[in-house]
Amino acid sequence: MDTSKKYLITSALPYANGELHLGHLAGAYLPADIYVRYLRLRGCDVAFICGSDEHGAAITMRAKKEGVSPQAIIDKYHTLNKETFQKLGISFDYYHRTSVPLHHETSQDFFKKLIDKGGELEERTTEQYYDEDYDQFLADRYITGECPKCGNPEAYGDQCERCGSSLSPTELINPKSVLSGKTPVLKPTKHWYFRLDKHGDWLRDWIENGILDGQQHHDPKAWKKHVVGQCLSWLNDGEGLLPRAITRDLDWGIPVPLPNAKGKVLYVWFDAPIGYISSTKQWAIENNKNWEEYWKGGNVHLVHFIGKDNIVFHCIVFPAMLKAHGEFALPVNVPANQFLNFEGQKFSKSKGWGIEQHQYLEEFADFPNKEDALRWALIRNMPENKDSDFKWDEFVDFYDKDLADNLGNFINRVVTLTNSYFGGAVPAAEIGLSSKLDVVSTLAKSLAQDIEGFNFKSAASILMEISSWGNQYLQDTAPWAIRKSDPESPVIKECIFNALQIVTLLSALCEPFIPFTSLKIRGLLNLPVLKNGDMEEVFEKLEMGEALLPIGHQVGAPEILFAKINDRKEDSRLKIIERQKAKLEAVITEEASKQPSNHSTIQPLKEAIQYDDFAKLDIRTATILTAEPIPKADKLLKLTVDLGLEKRTVVSGIAEHFKPEEVVGKKVLLLANLAPRKLRGVESQGMILMAEDADGKLGFVNAGEGWENGLVVK
Ligand code: 2FM
Ligand code: ZN
Repeated sequence: MDTSKKYLITSALPYANGELHLGHLAGAYLPADIYVRYLRLRGCDVAFICGSDEHGAAITMRAKKEGVSPQAIIDKYHTLNKETFQKLGISFDYYHRTSVPLHHETSQDFFKKLIDKGGELEERTTEQYYDEDYDQFLADRYITGECPKCGNPEAYGDQCERCGSSLSPTELINPKSVLSGKTPVLKPTKHWYFRLDKHGDWLRDWIENGILDGQQHHDPKAWKKHVVGQCLSWLNDGEGLLPRAITRDLDWGIPVPLPNAKGKVLYVWFDAPIGYISSTKQWAIENNKNWEEYWKGGNVHLVHFIGKDNIVFHCIVFPAMLKAHGEFALPVNVPANQFLNFEGQKFSKSKGWGIEQHQYLEEFADFPNKEDALRWALIRNMPENKDSDFKWDEFVDFYDKDLADNLGNFINRVVTLTNSYFGGAVPAAEIGLSSKLDVVSTLAKSLAQDIEGFNFKSAASILMEISSWGNQYLQDTAPWAIRKSDPESPVIKECIFNALQIVTLLSALCEPFIPFTSLKIRGLLNLPVLKNGDMEEVFEKLEMGEALLPIGHQVGAPEILFAKINDRKEDSRLKIIERQKAKLEAVITEEASKQPSNHSTIQPLKEAIQYDDFAKLDIRTATILTAEPIPKADKLLKLTVDLGLEKRTVVSGIAEHFKPEEVVGKKVLLLANLAPRKLRGVESQGMILMAEDADGKLGFVNAGEGWENGLVVK
């Protein structure tokens, strides 16, 4: 690691308008935390920056829904999200918020700089929807209507959530204002546009080749394929690089800092990424640092951690803003994750599908190691390059197989043996750090490389390999067996010495993934809490063949780190998991019970008719007398029907639903005056009325038993 650099690591600023779920955690926060913890242990100078995104229509709509002020909403969720991250060990150096004056000033200065540079922003007047009752222009989210692509009647002005299409408000069919419910009118309004169109050429070279201003800025091969792919398809799409409006007519946001801009605010996606800068500034103020060292010049190593829905903003729009501004460094990587699903479905708050971070902490309050148990399950299943799925059964498996059977078991065995054979003191091995540990040392290096390359899943499995190797080494050497025949054998000392070195190594290597456990292992080993640079020292010692835990060092008493969950049926932790599964079962049952009355299966009513229209239909009671298949017509039966006055031949499309013998003798209703029609050479003289359910099952409609044939239905 290049410790001379200034590492600025950011996680997407979450909107302060709701709780965050496990998908958010796995997407943008946990991977960043692993990376940052690793960098710190390698002795790097890091600022890990995040905060709440507190502007935009997402906030004002939530406030409207809850009947409170936007300020009340952001205060509530800023605090909740900040505290929850902290409890889960996400080690931000600063968690700022975009509603504060420092951020407003920083964003306004950024805007003014773009104005002053000339050519980066332009004023344009366009027609936008306006709600006359509320006397205001409508943000895209404040307009709903029918999606022109899929017919969803509740699409938003910027996106249809059913088919995923990006929309503009004027594309909606029958647009309605969310405020008044009325049809909005188009009115001219002036806005400032960022000339993204001027930035296409260098952006392409930067994304594709890593070249910036004629120099190699980063290794383009180090970027994830899906990130580069999404960027290139955006850049190559003719519409991708049009000028983008960066102001809005809204009363919640950062005022546009110009005299002729009353009632206009900066667009939330313009100010939010500038939040990374203002958050760094506030961190610097409070920690006696120079924020500019982390944002300006060639020494900056900026990495944005985000979910895949934010790729375009972080890889195209924000870099273009930074470049246009001229003073800031661009990210060397944007290792966006894909999405995490939950038990086979998308997270859905309205359906109750999924679990929120804070909810997990509450519902798992009595679950020991809940923080690392969750972190570990999410890491093992991280959606690094494709969408992945969180399952409770796997959560238990990862805990049992990795943390309990492998890591916890190894550490417990080593500490127990050290205590019982050597009174807890690290025994004197005759050699230094045995060459037996070469394998472990090589694995540790690969783990480090994987973290540096954002391959956290692979790094986590290497951690398990190291611990498995340790278990196998103990098993193969079997010091307990040697002890029986030769209690003074140096092999026993060497084995425990080596095993203790591996435990010490694991205490450092596991810290980025499961920091709470790392702390406990340090406690068991009687070692101080890890500090910045400690892993660097570990790697140096491994290289030199020096002991990580010196001879004579006294370790603590053994303690079970992880007890297996699936060992005992009455385990209270299993009950907690069962409750989670039961909640999902309830959602499934609830959804299924909605099915029959689901509007998508019951067809909508037809338009109204007059009585005269109905009176034209001559519907009669009748009885089916005979039924036979029609050759080469799988769907049709030829029926003879008794209509009282006469008998009729009717061809009916029911052969896939009924056998001929099942329908003979059925009382039915017949539309008797339907014009005759030939079907497969047979003239059909009427139509039998049927009802069809949501699954397409047919049933006869009749007046009931005992009615004679030929009676009029009216
Ligand atoms: O998608 C979101 O949740 C946005 N609030 C992310 C903003 S990231 C950055 F630009 F601040
Ligand atoms: Zn749609």
